[in-house]
Amino acid sequence: MEVEKEIAEKKTIGDKMETDSKFAGMVKFSGIPPRTHMTKRLFTFLPMKGSEKAYAAALKFVSDKREHPFFTLVGDTGRGKTHLAIGIGWHYLEVKNRLVKYGQVANLLDDLRSGYNIDSAEDAHNFDTKLNQLKKCGLLILDDLGTEQGTPWAREKLDEVVDYRYINELPLVVTSNLKPAEIAPRLARRLSEGVRVALKCGDYSCIIADRRKEKG
Ligand SMILES: Nc1ncnc2c1ncn2[C@@H]1O[C@H](COP(=O)(O)OP(=O)(O)O)[C@@H](O)[C@H]1O
Ligand SMILES: [Mg+2]
Repeated sequence: MEVEKEIAEKKTIGDKMETDSKFAGMVKFSGIPPRTHMTKRLFTFLPMKGSEKAYAAALKFVSDKREHPFFTLVGDTGRGKTHLAIGIGWHYLEVKNRLVKYGQVANLLDDLRSGYNIDSAEDAHNFDTKLNQLKKCGLLILDDLGTEQGTPWAREKLDEVVDYRYINELPLVVTSNLKPAEIAPRLARRLSEGVRVALKCGDYSCIIADRRKEKG
């Protein structure tokens, strides 16, 4: 099982970032906060009542039994959506050795927009490069879909990226606390073809605090 391989490698990833400049470059490119290699991993996720299904689906997504390249995690804040999404990201980086792009949707779109200036050929090139990275990287993780300012420009670019990945069957992980009806129809249709799991557990920090109290 690939996750066992990940556990075996858990002690080495910090070293790898320091000694393997190519790997360090891939981590930097990914936008995944480096220190989360200790915290937001698949093997550090404790499945709770209401999150076992999402956990099992995340493990399946990184295995060779993956059902569909699109994977959506939904649920309220504090349920572990970002944890699982970043955990999948680390797995793609260290076990699959693939280029990953992670970000809050709003930030990814802001960054894309900052490279957009039709006045200069250089900026146009910069913009194309950034857009192509989102379209073509080994795994794209769109965290917190729906919190971005839905300008027509942002919606159009998001649509273009997701459409490209859909047509080319490239892996996409999305987290959101929106209901399907609240997501733009075309995007919602694309996502609904993939695997969608809801985290119905309580807020993780509250569960942990309650357990501590019980232990006294
Ligand atoms: N089942 C879990 N096991 C371990 N840590 C968890 C779990 N669920 C959430 N956490 C931790 O709780 C915090 C909030 O989780 P997060 O993934 O940010 O939630 P969400 O993205 O759903 O708002 C993070 O520090 C995360 O690592
Ligand atoms: Mg989150």
